[in-house]
Amino acid sequence: MKKPIPYGRQNITQEDIDTVIETLKSDYLTQGPRIAEFEESFAKYVGSEYAVAVSNGTAALHLCAMALNLQPGDKVITTPITFAASANCVRYCGGEVEFADIDPETYLLDINNVREILENAPRGTYKGIIPVDFAGRAVDLEAFRKLADDYNLWIIEDSCHAPGGFFEDSSGTKQLCGNGKFAELSIFSFHPVKHIASGEGGMITTNDKYLYEKLLQLRTHGILKDDLKYENSLSFAQGLDNVDSDGIVSKNYPGWYMEMQDLGYNYRITDFQAALGSSQLKRADEGLAKRKNIIAKYKEAFQDKDFVKGQSGIVDGHAYHLYILEVDNRLGLYNYLRDHNIFAQIHYIPCHLMPYYRKLGWKEGDLPNAEEYYKKCISLPVYPTLEKEEQLYVIEKIQSFYE
Ligand SMILES: Cc1ncc(COP(=O)(O)O)c(C=O)c1O
Repeated sequence: MKKPIPYGRQNITQEDIDTVIETLKSDYLTQGPRIAEFEESFAKYVGSEYAVAVSNGTAALHLCAMALNLQPGDKVITTPITFAASANCVRYCGGEVEFADIDPETYLLDINNVREILENAPRGTYKGIIPVDFAGRAVDLEAFRKLADDYNLWIIEDSCHAPGGFFEDSSGTKQLCGNGKFAELSIFSFHPVKHIASGEGGMITTNDKYLYEKLLQLRTHGILKDDLKYENSLSFAQGLDNVDSDGIVSKNYPGWYMEMQDLGYNYRITDFQAALGSSQLKRADEGLAKRKNIIAKYKEAFQDKDFVKGQSGIVDGHAYHLYILEVDNRLGLYNYLRDHNIFAQIHYIPCHLMPYYRKLGWKEGDLPNAEEYYKKCISLPVYPTLEKEEQLYVIEKIQSFYE
């Protein structure tokens, strides 16, 4: 097999290309109508009231932490089996990250371990929880909400892997990832390996109007454009000395006027990225079905194999971003696959054992489930354009390695 097979890749159609070109020819490269369109269609897709498009998933996490007023020293709990950004957003605000262990069956943040951490600390120690819909498997946010309410915590759901995913709540109702019913804020990434690609890109969803407005402001330097909310006086805004208004000074703030009331960032997405995101979103369910199909074939091929110690498998509501096997001799398998042009990946090196977090005191043995999982996990190629023969080749090579 000549063509390299990556673990994930984008699926760009002619319609995507045409949509982007059309936007490039329009009046706006950024801050135009495509962004609001993308936000609206994404909010509809996940069932939230509001959506804020941003430059990437990491920026989304940072803005969420800021909007929730995370302060230096505040403690937040998250999982070590995630991309570093889920934890780093806490550090950007000067907060402290408490990693809790994973459930070895689901690979998700273990709610029992989180509860234990909360029970063993004085009330008020922690401010929030960042659960991750890792690999596309939706976290039971109803359970996390109950726990968070008991301890007065907020929740940021990191749903980068799970647009279109859902969990079933205690009444059997499907709850879509990012629908805003359980978490204050949810975030998504549109990096090329994700379900919806916009190059770089991210989205925050929420049902909270206050947070929504705050996010819009923080996304663009903390700048506000709203006559009713300005802090500076009208005469200052107009550039006039303190004139008593007796009909000669307009009662309106001038057209150019705006205020930077908080310290924000430029975390905006461009119009052509948003156009690509919207175009991709139209095929999100189709992509999900293809991913599920691919994973069903892997599951069938590997379910009875002795070398398989665990797998992410088929679960209702799974968004199938990744397909993970736990195997013995993972290093050997990884290298063997590479030698055969198959580029499997490891998700993830436990975040708490990254040198940066080790320097903050984390060490081997702190989170045994995550560390054991890391020794065995390998993510196999899953993406909608993976061809049948390519997948058969991957399966065959894995089997031949263990024969
Ligand atoms: C779980 C998770 N959180 C956050 C991010 C950050 O997203 P981005 O790469 O768009 O900044 C990613 C993306 O890699 C991710 O997988």
